Amino acid sequence: MTSSVCQQGRKSCPSTLNELVATLIEIFSSERVNIEEVQTVMENYRSNELDWKRYAHFDPHRYTRNLVDEGNGRFNLIVLCWGEGMGSSIHSHSDSHCFMKILDGSLRESLFQWPSASEKRSQMTCVGSTDYSRDQVAYINDSKGLHRIENISHCEQAVSLHLYSPPFDACQCFDERTSRARICKTTFWSKYGERTPFTVEAENN
Ligand code: SIN
Repeated sequence: MTSSVCQQGRKSCPSTLNELVATLIEIFSSERVNIEEVQTVMENYRSNELDWKRYAHFDPHRYTRNLVDEGNGRFNLIVLCWGEGMGSSIHSHSDSHCFMKILDGSLRESLFQWPSASEKRSQMTCVGSTDYSRDQVAYINDSKGLHRIENISHCEQAVSLHLYSPPFDACQCFDERTSRARICKTTFWSKYGERTPFTVEAENN
């Protein structure tokens, strides 16, 4: 977005994570979601570790999902922390919008086609990969396909900010070799900066 648009007010150019949350709540209070507007506002917020470090909790064995805000019930805003070489499964988004902004490091998004009925038990088709770096924002929904997110770096961690609207607590995860799907519960490692009680449910990673 150009600086002239930014000058129109805080709405398009949030300078802190709190301002970004307030702006997103305003945007999502309307019935119709303007994907480009959300993407632009998320891009315009310049990542500042001081804003998000209280949500950034790493686990040595898997990536973590850390709830920042429930967006008045309209969206979930989540900080994801990716250790070196960690990645998600190939998954769907339960008919929700998914925005992903890089806060630190970089992440690779690989896009996959939905398996067709005839492709059951065969390898899934990857239709492309994009690497995103600090402050870039990716967008996907189920009509665009499925994706896997990975920190391909072996020496740098990555942190990303994800917005899902409407919020969902389960999605489909796929086995790349067989296309088989299973339902995965989405869980939070922490909420509002506080560790959540341990659960043994299968997660999306
Ligand atoms: C994503 O779908 O953008 C990342 C995976 C997750 O939310 O666990």
